[in-house]
Amino acid sequence: MAFPKLHLLMSTPRFLTSGQCKQIANEFGTPAYVYDEATLKKAAREVLDFGGPYGFTGRYAMKACPNGAILTLFRDWGLHFDVSSGYEVLRAIQVGIPAEKISLSSQEYPENIGELVNLGITVNACSLKQVESFGQAFPGGRLGLRVNPGVGSGGTLKTNVGGPSSSFGIWHELLDQVEVLTSKHALEVFRIHSHIGSGSDPDVWVKAADLTLNQVRRFPGVTHLNLGGGFKVGRMPGEDSTDLGVVGPPVKMALEAFAAETGRKLHLEIEPGSYLTANAGCLLATVQDKTNTGDNGHVFLKLDTGMTDILRPTLYAAQQPMAVVPVSNEPASEEESVIVVGHCCESGDLLTPDESDPGLLKERRLTKAEIGDLFVIDGAGAYCAAMPAKNYNSFPEIPELLVRESGECVLIRKRQTLEQVFQNEVPLI
Ligand SMILES: Cc1ncc(COP(=O)(O)O)c(C=O)c1O
Repeated sequence: MAFPKLHLLMSTPRFLTSGQCKQIANEFGTPAYVYDEATLKKAAREVLDFGGPYGFTGRYAMKACPNGAILTLFRDWGLHFDVSSGYEVLRAIQVGIPAEKISLSSQEYPENIGELVNLGITVNACSLKQVESFGQAFPGGRLGLRVNPGVGSGGTLKTNVGGPSSSFGIWHELLDQVEVLTSKHALEVFRIHSHIGSGSDPDVWVKAADLTLNQVRRFPGVTHLNLGGGFKVGRMPGEDSTDLGVVGPPVKMALEAFAAETGRKLHLEIEPGSYLTANAGCLLATVQDKTNTGDNGHVFLKLDTGMTDILRPTLYAAQQPMAVVPVSNEPASEEESVIVVGHCCESGDLLTPDESDPGLLKERRLTKAEIGDLFVIDGAGAYCAAMPAKNYNSFPEIPELLVRESGECVLIRKRQTLEQVFQNEVPLI
């Protein structure tokens, strides 16, 4: 399918025209995730341009959107990868990501760590236990350390992974114990890593960068500094995104000052997920029903999607841009205030929550919708396909599509069949 070039209006979907929405819905059905190659490429370029005075690696945190087609695009554009489980290592390798481009930082140390390291991945130990396990498996080996630098910041408390309330990484005051373990197993610590949260405040991110750099001093063999991801992405109109051109320079100056003082020229790494994909994806759905609860109630739009495909509103009270795409060819002129809900049988499947509480309703002013109209939820490229309430109410997993730079829209994951929903069940005999 070939599309004409896009042009954008604030009240319309971010990267799809209404014509494209209709064509995609006709050809592939709804609901479906749709990603935009041009937006992915632009974000990849911005990350690669971050640079470092003594070498730089931009990694994609694949947990944000792990579809193999997206991984291979990012690979071809020059990114390396951050992975968060042994399964992600194998998933990336399966689609052709070279093992030496993969760095693992995981809460759960994979049982097959030996095989994975032998393939060529690098590892950031995220706890004292992980340092000890790595030392037992690879005496004399090279290891990175994920450090909790003492501060954290995230878009919500659920995505803040730094500071004393967070179990992620090795608490900075425990590094003496790390030194005991690394000398016991003759480990070479080559990288210090930190990641303080998703949707971090840029000032806290820069402060964490400085604290993390400071931890390099006690490990003379460290050649790499990885400052994680977490760059805030504005999804809603008017919401700010972290400007890489603002947070980058202080880090680079700190690296230069560190080199002048110590003679050590550190290779810099960052590993964003959201920054690379959040605004490059949308969820294309259909208004499958409409109801109201009277004069003192609300008008509800019921979509053929919901927490089964986009969990962020339910989990974080996340605000997502939304647009109605009327199927009639009449220009839509009327607006109305509505509550948008998903298709699951619980009130928590709410797509327009108040930002203060995922259970509180907040009306959204949208183009007046009729049953059968299309509906676009934007800002759905990160932590949506990757993090659904999959198969709840037995709704099958939905397809993923990619609008190529040429304008062609291609399938990159099929819709699940009903049989696939329960294929691993074992009947009682
Ligand atoms: C270790 C690590 N690096 C990078 C990221 C990516 O974060 P974001 O998507 O906010 O950029 C995460 C997200 O959880 C992470 O845990």
